Amino acid sequence: MATIIKNGRIITATDDYMADIKISEGKVVEIGKNLEASGDELVDAKGCLVVPGSIDPHTHFDLDAGDTNSADDFETGSKAALMGGTTTIIDFATQFRGQTLHEGLEHWNKKAQNKSYCDYGFHMAIAEWNDTTKHEMKEMVELGIPSFKLYTAYKATMQLGDGEIYQALACSRDIGALIEFHCENGDVIEERIKKHLEAGETGYKYHPKARPIAVEAEATERVIRLAELAEAPVYIVHISCGEALEAVREARKRGVKVYAETCPQYLFLDESVYDLEDFEGAKYVISPPLRNKAEQEKLWNGLENGDLEIVASDHCPFNLKGQKDAGKDDFSKIPNGAAGVEHRFNLLYTYGVEAGRISLNQWINLTSTRSAKVHGMFPQKGTIAIGSDADIVVFDPNASWKISVDNHHQNVDYTPYEGFEQTGKVRDVFLRGRSVVRNGEWKEAEPAGEFVKRKIR
Ligand code: URP
Ligand code: ZN
Ligand code: ZN
Repeated sequence: MATIIKNGRIITATDDYMADIKISEGKVVEIGKNLEASGDELVDAKGCLVVPGSIDPHTHFDLDAGDTNSADDFETGSKAALMGGTTTIIDFATQFRGQTLHEGLEHWNKKAQNKSYCDYGFHMAIAEWNDTTKHEMKEMVELGIPSFKLYTAYKATMQLGDGEIYQALACSRDIGALIEFHCENGDVIEERIKKHLEAGETGYKYHPKARPIAVEAEATERVIRLAELAEAPVYIVHISCGEALEAVREARKRGVKVYAETCPQYLFLDESVYDLEDFEGAKYVISPPLRNKAEQEKLWNGLENGDLEIVASDHCPFNLKGQKDAGKDDFSKIPNGAAGVEHRFNLLYTYGVEAGRISLNQWINLTSTRSAKVHGMFPQKGTIAIGSDADIVVFDPNASWKISVDNHHQNVDYTPYEGFEQTGKVRDVFLRGRSVVRNGEWKEAEPAGEFVKRKIR
């Protein structure tokens, strides 16, 4: 049986029009006015926006972090994603030191297979560089994992040196891959943390002081220069400040292919939270840290003029009780990260579209289409077109509600967006034609999420 979504206003990254959509066997098969419904299921989308299922290319589900794991695994994280209109995520499958890339991938396959409700891809995070890494990178590309993540921070676990980064970038150029970078200078951070702790400055208000803007800007500039030298494209994740964005702009003027991502936390939250008492500020211990309102404004300008192309969540939640509190007496032991996969899409609608800062088309481009293109999934994902996967969200722009830990679906004991008023709400979600959310209620019985094989070049 086919499904017809009727009377909706279809919004893609480029279009805005009224039409019906026919879905069959997981694909969009027809788009037009007054589609005939002979025995098909009808979904009336009158008064609603009908948009492509959103794509979040930056999640850390079930991330091993010392002796704990991020609080959402693939089951709970993917449910929360779908409830918030995100039908595809790209998670960071991670090679830990001592492992091969294949071992890291196998570990992540076990976490995701038959557990994910939404579709998913992987970036492969490389923690160790040796003689076999280049060959393994090529094999990853052949397996449909054409993007990698490298860190210039987290010295003890993930950080690579400049020579290794340069080699990896040169390899990515040759094999048609893209490397994404967490840009902060890990060596400098180590020194600054040590200095604070030695001075008895152990509270979380020293977390942003250990990781100031210059630490991010320096690493961003350096990584881009290394990519320029290696003649490779490069993707900068979670940009939090104007100076890092400026490095992107300057590089683009020189002809470097740089992709730039930011996250809702850097657009909607600011550093004043680190002054909160009673361990409340630990909720916002993320890296890079939150900046001031002037930096937020620079990021918004970047979104408006297209310099920032993608808004991802960097979903990496840890419970305040039982996880973040490991760092009660030492801020450097607070696991870094916060939740966002469920709310990213709605937050951008409320404070972007409704607030008049971005258009409906920009909203879809920033949260879906651009990511599908950059990450090698377009037009299978990221748009509504004949032949595309029927990943479709019916979004009611007239609804209003408030984000709260009491109504979210993320498996964590707080949300950084508690009390944020929202305009518009995800009403129905289709994943490859399967009705997974209907009238805001969870409907899906089985974790039918599929691995998305991607190809970038
Ligand atoms: O604080 C953060 N962002 N944690 C998640 C891991 C990362 O650095 O992206
Ligand atoms: Zn990061
Ligand atoms: Zn991350």
